[in-house]
Amino acid sequence: MQFDCIASAAFGLEGVAAKELRDIGFDSVKAENGGARFQADEIGVMRANLWLGTADRVLIVLGEFPARSFDELFEGVRALPWERFISPRGRILVKGKCVRSMLMSVRDCQSITKKAIVERLRDKLNVRVLPEDAEEYSLEVAVVKDVARLTLDTSGAALNKRGYRVLNGEAAIRETLARALLTLSPWRLSEPLYDPCCGSGTFLIEAAMMKSGKAPGLERGFAVTSWKGFDARAMELLREEARDRFKPELACDIAGSDINPEALSYCATHFKKAGFSGIKVEKCDLRELKIEENSGCFICNPPYGERLSDIKTAEKLYAEMGKLLGRTPGWSMGVIATDPLFERCFGRRAKSRRRLYNGRLECEFMCF
Ligand SMILES: C[S@@+](CC[C@H](N)C(=O)[O-])C[C@H]1O[C@@H](n2cnc3c(N)ncnc32)[C@H](O)[C@@H]1O
Repeated sequence: MQFDCIASAAFGLEGVAAKELRDIGFDSVKAENGGARFQADEIGVMRANLWLGTADRVLIVLGEFPARSFDELFEGVRALPWERFISPRGRILVKGKCVRSMLMSVRDCQSITKKAIVERLRDKLNVRVLPEDAEEYSLEVAVVKDVARLTLDTSGAALNKRGYRVLNGEAAIRETLARALLTLSPWRLSEPLYDPCCGSGTFLIEAAMMKSGKAPGLERGFAVTSWKGFDARAMELLREEARDRFKPELACDIAGSDINPEALSYCATHFKKAGFSGIKVEKCDLRELKIEENSGCFICNPPYGERLSDIKTAEKLYAEMGKLLGRTPGWSMGVIATDPLFERCFGRRAKSRRRLYNGRLECEFMCF
């Protein structure tokens, strides 16, 4: 059976997620606000969960219909084939949002949706009670401009949770964003990559995964494998195939440094957890950093000032980053920053830029 799916992605990264889906092998992929649409069967849904590195979740779109009243919402939800997915003991969690619509109460939309699903399931499964004491089904009712869209979340925990980041580094970048920035950066897989403010090592691990062909979801589970009609053995086969493709020895020429020794101890734990022993990190102040290779790419998520240090100190560091690039001809650099004065401090204009969000912070990703 083919499903209408969405790989949800952060603002500004929808096109990156769409490209990734095409690279994984899906056709008719279309970027839209909040993600990328694609068609997939049961195996495809599992494959997307396993291999997507930049998307937040894989959702199945159950239906979309006009909903200007609670009656319309109730009838629309009840008409959808919930019994196709939800087992008689399944626990149903409903999230919601209402945007520029006549229906404005998110809580009411959630409870009406749940009521309609329960009514449909009781009827179709021929049971009086749904104990809701087994596997979880998380779904969303999103009413946008008077159209309700019902989606089921097949991922479970968000896809950035790969399983390797067990320690909370200060201002660590989200794994999916790090991966997307690596894709958008001038870095080519064949050249060295260096993060001079590596913190807990997110860029380095994501780059190592990309180079070594490691599926981002290889070490984690997905909600969908406990659902009716989604064969857990098929998922195991996909995992086996992914394990065969993983060549950790290819994760070479990836290195970084940080001024904070605690961050480096976090790196050690995360590299081990992710299965990479070849990534090199050392304690070094960016101002003193010397690079031996003739060409490569720096990737950097420096302190923004708001969160880690005051803005003046951050801006001095941006000037030092510009000097670092100046003394390493043959190297390029991708930087994510919030400061509108970044380029002035850095001392050059970016060759390309993209506006996006790091958490709630509006940022620019600039390539030099
Ligand atoms: C926003 S955090 C990077 C987080 C990292 N991307 C991660 O995912 O964990 C910025 C890092 O820059 C480091 N840093 C600040 N000043 C530095 C300097 N002068 N030289 C090297 N690293 C520096 C901080 O210790 C911090 O780990």
